[in-house]
Amino acid sequence: MILVLDFGGQYNQLIARRVREQGVYCEVKNYRLPIKEILEIAPEGIIFTGGPNSVYAGNAPTLSKEIFELGIPVLGICYGCQLMANLLGGEVATCEISEYGNTTVNYSQSDLFEQNKNIAWMSHTDYISKIPQGFKITAITENCPVAAMENSERKLYATQFHPEVNHTVNGSHIIKRFLDICNAKYDWTMENYAQTTINSLREKIGDGRVLLALSGGVDSSVAAALLSKAIGKNLTCVFVDHGLMRKNEGDEIEEAFKNFPVNFIRVNAGERFLGKLAAISDPEEKRKIIGEEFIRVFEEESKKIGTVDYLAQGTIYPDIIESGTGDAAVIKSHHNVGGLPDCVDFKEIIEPLRLLFKDEVRALGRELGLSEVLVSRQPFPGPGLAIRIIGDITQEKISILQDADFIFREEIAKEGISPSQYFAVLTNMRSVGVMGDGRTYDYTLALRAVNTTDFMTATITKIPYPVLEKISSRLVNEVKQINRIVYDITTKPPSTIEWE
Ligand code: XMP
Repeated sequence: MILVLDFGGQYNQLIARRVREQGVYCEVKNYRLPIKEILEIAPEGIIFTGGPNSVYAGNAPTLSKEIFELGIPVLGICYGCQLMANLLGGEVATCEISEYGNTTVNYSQSDLFEQNKNIAWMSHTDYISKIPQGFKITAITENCPVAAMENSERKLYATQFHPEVNHTVNGSHIIKRFLDICNAKYDWTMENYAQTTINSLREKIGDGRVLLALSGGVDSSVAAALLSKAIGKNLTCVFVDHGLMRKNEGDEIEEAFKNFPVNFIRVNAGERFLGKLAAISDPEEKRKIIGEEFIRVFEEESKKIGTVDYLAQGTIYPDIIESGTGDAAVIKSHHNVGGLPDCVDFKEIIEPLRLLFKDEVRALGRELGLSEVLVSRQPFPGPGLAIRIIGDITQEKISILQDADFIFREEIAKEGISPSQYFAVLTNMRSVGVMGDGRTYDYTLALRAVNTTDFMTATITKIPYPVLEKISSRLVNEVKQINRIVYDITTKPPSTIEWE
C-alpha cells in the first residue's frame, strides 16, 4: 500500500483518491505515525501532503529524518516538498510573489514528468530557496525557482504544485509515475475487496450475531449485502425510523428489504427522537443526540433479539476523515462517528466500508449484485431532516419539509436532471408575503442541488430557470406555511452540502 502522511492540507483526501483511482491501495495517516509503525505497515511508497504551516513556524508539523533512510520512495507535495528540503539540508524562504491557482510550469528531464510546459495548481507562500545536496531541480515557474526537485538515486521526489488537483494537467500521470517507481501493486479492485472482506468478516465473526444499523441509504445497504454474503441469517438489520426520514421513505425501505435474505426489523421511534430533540437548535448537539439515541435503540433491540455480539455500521472513509482523524479541522461530526457515546454495549463495532470512498462503495454494491436504483441513490444523512430544519425541530416543521422536499424531488425526476444530491431545507427565517388579498408571514424554503463525485467538493447544479420557476410555483401553492423559495448557489467549499 501507499502511505499518505497527513500534514493538515486541504487536498489530502484527493491524494488518496488519485492513488486508488490507479488501482493501488492507499491510506491516510497522521504525520505523527512512529517510524516503527511505518516499518510494520511496510508501504511501497510514502506521500507527504501539503499543510497550512511554514516549516520554520514554532509548532510546524515535522518528522524524523530517518524516514528518508528506510529505502521507501517518498513524494513530498507542497508543504511536504518544503519539509523534505528543510530536513535534508536545503533552505526554505518566503516568496516575494505567492503563487495561487493555475500556474505555468516548465518541466525538465525527470523520472516523474513527460512534458515540457503545462499548467499546474499552486498554492504556496513559502518556496525552496536552496535544494538539498544530491537533488536536482526538475521544474520551475516564473516566480518559483524550485517547482519540483528529485534525487532519483534515493527515490526522493517533491513537487511544490499539487499533482492531485484536477487543474494540474497530467497530474494523475505524475502520480502514476511515482507509483511505478514504488513498484506499487495495481490490485485494488472492488472484486478483490469484496472477496477479501467477506472472508475476513467470516473469520472474525464466526458464529457470532451481528446487528446492522440499516438506514436504507447506499452505505448501509452495501454493508448489509456484504455482511449477508459473509454470515447470512446471523445478520439482523434494524431500521430505526427516527421520524426524520423523507416523505414515505420509511415504508419504501421496509418494502425494499422485505425480500432481502436477512432478518429485518423496523423500529418506529419518531416520538422518542422528537422528545429528545425538543428545543435543540445547535447542529452539533442535534447530531450527538441522534447518534446517542440510535445506539440506545440498537442496544434495546439487540437485547430483545438475544445475544448480539457485534454492531455493524455503514460508515465510510469521508465520514471518518471529516470527523477529524488527522490535523485537519473538524468540519462536522457525522452522527455515526463523532456522535458515538463513550459506552457502547456491544463487543465491538464493525464498519466494513470504513476505508472506502463513496464511488467505491457504489462500485462494491454493483459487484455484490445490488440493484442500480439502490446503488445510485443520492445520499441521505443519518440525522435525516433534523439537519435540514434550521433551528429547533417540531412535528409541524418536519411535515412541511417532507411535503416540500417531495415536490422538489418529483419535479427534478420529471425533468430528467440528475444532481449528485438535491434536497430542500426549511430555513428558520420567515418573511412577509401576499397571498390572495391577505398578508402572510411564512417560512423561506431553500433548495439545494449539487454535482460531485466524492462529496468532499461540490459545484452547484445549474437547474434551468423555467424548471426552478415551476418548482417554486408548486411549492408555494401546495405547501402551507411557505411563501418564499431561494436557490442555494454556493459551492463546497466554502459551504458544505448540508446546511447544518
Ligand atoms: P457536507 O454537508 O459535510 O456533506 O458537505 C457531505 C455528505 O455527507 C452527508 N452528511 C452526513 N451523513 N451523517 C451522515 O450520515 C451526518 O451527520 C452527515 N452530515 C452530512 C451529506 O448529506 C453529504 O452527502
